[in-house]
Amino acid sequence: MRVLSIVGARPQFVKLAPVAAAAEGRLEHLIAHTGQHYDVNMSDAFFTDLGIPAPDVNLGVGSGSHGTQTAAMLEGLEKVVLDTRPDWVLVYGDTNSTLAGTLAAVKLHVPVAHLEAGLRSFNRRMPEEQNRVLTDHAADLLLAPTETAVGHLTREGLAERTVLVGDVMTDVLLRVREAVTNQPLPLPDLATGEYHVATVHRPDNTDDPERLRAILDGLSKIDGPVVLLAHPRLRTLAARHGIELSTGSVTVSEPLGYPQLVNAVAHSRGVITDSGGLQKEAFLLRVPCTTLRPETEWVETVELGWNTLVNDGFERLAGIVGRPVPAATDATPYGTGRAAEAAIDALESGRAA
Ligand code: UD1
Repeated sequence: MRVLSIVGARPQFVKLAPVAAAAEGRLEHLIAHTGQHYDVNMSDAFFTDLGIPAPDVNLGVGSGSHGTQTAAMLEGLEKVVLDTRPDWVLVYGDTNSTLAGTLAAVKLHVPVAHLEAGLRSFNRRMPEEQNRVLTDHAADLLLAPTETAVGHLTREGLAERTVLVGDVMTDVLLRVREAVTNQPLPLPDLATGEYHVATVHRPDNTDDPERLRAILDGLSKIDGPVVLLAHPRLRTLAARHGIELSTGSVTVSEPLGYPQLVNAVAHSRGVITDSGGLQKEAFLLRVPCTTLRPETEWVETVELGWNTLVNDGFERLAGIVGRPVPAATDATPYGTGRAAEAAIDALESGRAA
């Protein structure tokens, strides 16, 4: 059986790593990279650090408006799917690369499996919500990470195509955590348990200058160092709005590679983020997270007390991140690290609608 994985953006490389490992020796696995992310530290570093085979094809699409970027990917991917004729196209998460891969395949009547299906923020302003809803309704096999996701898919009439496999990001985190937590901190001049790790990259947080300024003000007044791992979108928008990122408690760092990120979070006092994956990584490492969004797809992190949503009043951030550490939990809402194997099982058994 031949499976074509389509990826393009940073979080997809993390999800691809355990899938590529689980596929080895079981099926023929091809990788198409759309080129949505292209900086070394947003792309190549993940393939190297996580031992992912080099992509069989890279379309080099790069950045652009949603329509331009998605259209370029669709055109390129159609050719890749025609050339490779896979038994399954496997798409990941919720980026423009996910949507383009899905459209290319369904139009050619090639079965599509969606890994990380069924997540919902119910916020249709988010490009990710648009991408994941459209993908779920077009795909033939929905590989859900959580019971919550299965519930959403069931309510949307998609239960027959759904398989609960667990969360593949948990697979990779558990594996990498073992390897890195005894290594030196990847961030200089910081002491374990004293600093926060912050990331901000969602359009809703970066594109409005007033909101971005308010977030930065809030971060700058936090007691103790805040290391802001600056996504290129954040740097570009801050420069355009004339906003200084390094102020008060905040020091700016380049985005980290995955093992370095896991190490930095594991030794931090807390995480402040608008990323999806990082909320869950913080939870799995039992580090408190403060999420700069009105809602989250990873509701279990909030229900278990390890994640707090903050969508306004960012001047309160110093107080909010100083809250007591949540009650210990041994809950495993994201599985036990065998999701990629389960996903390959589902592809092999061919449970398509
Ligand atoms: C994309 C995903 C988002 C995911 C994020 C992870 C969509 C709609 N969004 O958002 O869900 O959380 O990836 O990072 O697909 N840029 C570079 N170098 C790069 C990549 C991007 O400089 O390697 C800059 C460009 O200025 C670009 C901007 O970042 O215009 C945004 O990149 P883009 O891929 O459009 O969206 P992300 O914000 O990264």
